[in-house]
Amino acid sequence: MNPVETASPLTERINRIEFSATLAAATEADRMKAAGIDLADFGAGEPHFATPAHIKQAGIAAIQNDKTKYTPVGGVRELRDAIRARHAQDFGSNYAVEEIAASTGGKQALFNAIQVLVEHGDEVVIPVPYWVSFKDIVRYAGGECVFVDTDEANGFAMTPSMIERAITSRTRAIILNSPSNPSGAVTSPEDLERIVELAHARGIYVISDECYVYLNYSDRIFSVGSLTGCREHMVIIGSLSKTYSMTGWRLGYALGPKPIVSAMQKLQGQSTGNPNTISQMAAIAALTSSQQCIADMRADYIRLRDLMLAGLQQIPGIACHRPEGAFYLYPNVSAFFGRDGMSSSEDVARRLLHEAHVVTVAGEGFGTREHIRLSYATSAEVIDKGIQRMREFFGRL
Ligand SMILES: Cc1ncc(COP(=O)(O)O)c(C=O)c1O
Repeated sequence: MNPVETASPLTERINRIEFSATLAAATEADRMKAAGIDLADFGAGEPHFATPAHIKQAGIAAIQNDKTKYTPVGGVRELRDAIRARHAQDFGSNYAVEEIAASTGGKQALFNAIQVLVEHGDEVVIPVPYWVSFKDIVRYAGGECVFVDTDEANGFAMTPSMIERAITSRTRAIILNSPSNPSGAVTSPEDLERIVELAHARGIYVISDECYVYLNYSDRIFSVGSLTGCREHMVIIGSLSKTYSMTGWRLGYALGPKPIVSAMQKLQGQSTGNPNTISQMAAIAALTSSQQCIADMRADYIRLRDLMLAGLQQIPGIACHRPEGAFYLYPNVSAFFGRDGMSSSEDVARRLLHEAHVVTVAGEGFGTREHIRLSYATSAEVIDKGIQRMREFFGRL
């Protein structure tokens, strides 16, 4: 066989990563919807609300006022100042504008941070379950993921000692995500502080993905940005996607030490350049006007969480904790393994989709094989319909 003909045309680094599991599930659901099938869709990782009207108006005004040209790579100064002021006011942080860069969604900020911090062979500690992209972004950078199990019996709680045990001489960074996608777990401010301190003392970076920071239903909203004594080893990733229901606008940001944020902008400048200018103008409006829309959406998420949780808990065999943040439930479905040929959450999610017409995401993509993720960012009607279908499906097994 000729080795030239069989060699992959693709680089070794692209072959290290996988297609996003959540996007793959959405594609199959879209195909069924297009075929006219009525689905109860709990798959989406995005708010069901429209972007608030005053934010949309700012986007429209940006187009009409010809704010349609390139900007500095990390965003216009007015935007970076709005991010700075909002974060300082809400969380007590003290970043300078030069320590802030806007990006095309929080995902790009996260990608940039990991690419500039993680060398080949470096270890990155990631609590399980994790958001799907963490491991692939680390692997693309050449890093090695060190997965840390959390305490499912305690709502997937993560403690400083769990993290500490995973640290070796090769540990370069720890990725935190509170509230968490997919578990909805919220780590207490005290535990976050201890993790940040133990990392700082060892020269390890904490990359804190705080995309759901405002969707925290405990009464203690917290960002590690308030731990100003450890800022040298912290990069905070933020996003307007979930906070203001702006997923499609693609506007995120990073807060961190100037040399790191500057390197992240260098990378961004050689790839995408500035985030969309119209979205930057809309983001300024979002960050500087009334924050009532966040409180309204939060109140609705709490109502929807309680509705879906009550329904799920009535299905014999399903075990689900009560999450304190984000907009997902992450029930354990392993009681059904061994029944009717099912042996993994992928089997359960696939059968739910095709037989009950309920869209969920299998836990495998998030690092656990006993769970499925359900998003309650949808209407009460869809939740009622989906719960009814799941009750019938699981009841037949
Ligand atoms: C934990 C987490 N981080 C980051 C992101 C990226 O969000 P965006 O790029 O829309 O800001 C998401 C989106 O689902 C997420 O769930």
